[in-house]
Amino acid sequence: MERLQKVIANAGVTSRRKAETLIQEGKVKVNGKVVRELGVKVAQTDRIEVEGIEITKEIHRYFLFYKPRAVVSAVTDDKGRKVVSDYFTDIEERLYPVGRLDYETSGLLLMTNDGEFANLLMHPKFKVEKRYIARLKGIPEKVRLRQLERGVVIDGKKTAPAKVKMRSFDKGKNKAIVEVIIHEGRNRQVRKMFEAIGYPVQKLSREGYAFLDLRGMNAGERRELSHHEVKQLKALAKFGQ
Ligand code: URA
Repeated sequence: MERLQKVIANAGVTSRRKAETLIQEGKVKVNGKVVRELGVKVAQTDRIEVEGIEITKEIHRYFLFYKPRAVVSAVTDDKGRKVVSDYFTDIEERLYPVGRLDYETSGLLLMTNDGEFANLLMHPKFKVEKRYIARLKGIPEKVRLRQLERGVVIDGKKTAPAKVKMRSFDKGKNKAIVEVIIHEGRNRQVRKMFEAIGYPVQKLSREGYAFLDLRGMNAGERRELSHHEVKQLKALAKFGQ
């Protein structure tokens, strides 16, 4: 059961504030009867009319998407590049990404049409862990990685503590693979963190988001989240992990 004004707003008819006004003006009917009080709760099965027109309730969808590199985390792109929405053209609901991965970065991206859910997860106080795998040019010493763990200054502000682990390195090729876990979501954060210690990222992938990962998936594939996974994410956002 949800509040009437919220259901009207979620259906895309108008804002929640305007919906409240419409209710108070007697322009909203539930199952054929005018409802003027705010806060009345309605069920999925209730028939709601706004100014004589029945609203169609938006069904919320939640997807885990494995974004390939060279795809923009947006619904459209003015430069005509491929966008994440191109992978969801068969889905009727208008989905948008929860946060962003930069153009060259591949990996786990959530897609939804639930604005409240997206806002909740993107709120800075929500400390969901995001796990990245970076391929670096050069092999950073332990002391450099510790520096990243403690925080480095990017764009004039120190990053929050991170977890950083050397996964492997190749002295012959002068390359290293490093895992980084952060809970902030600043613009190009991981790339900038490595730049700050002098080791540019050559390839970056987000492999984990909270308890979700990309196991069994290939770039460009998606799967719908289960009801339970959505509930868990909402709970994490509210109560922390
Ligand atoms: N850090 C980056 O550098 N890029 C991303 O897309 C995400 C985190």
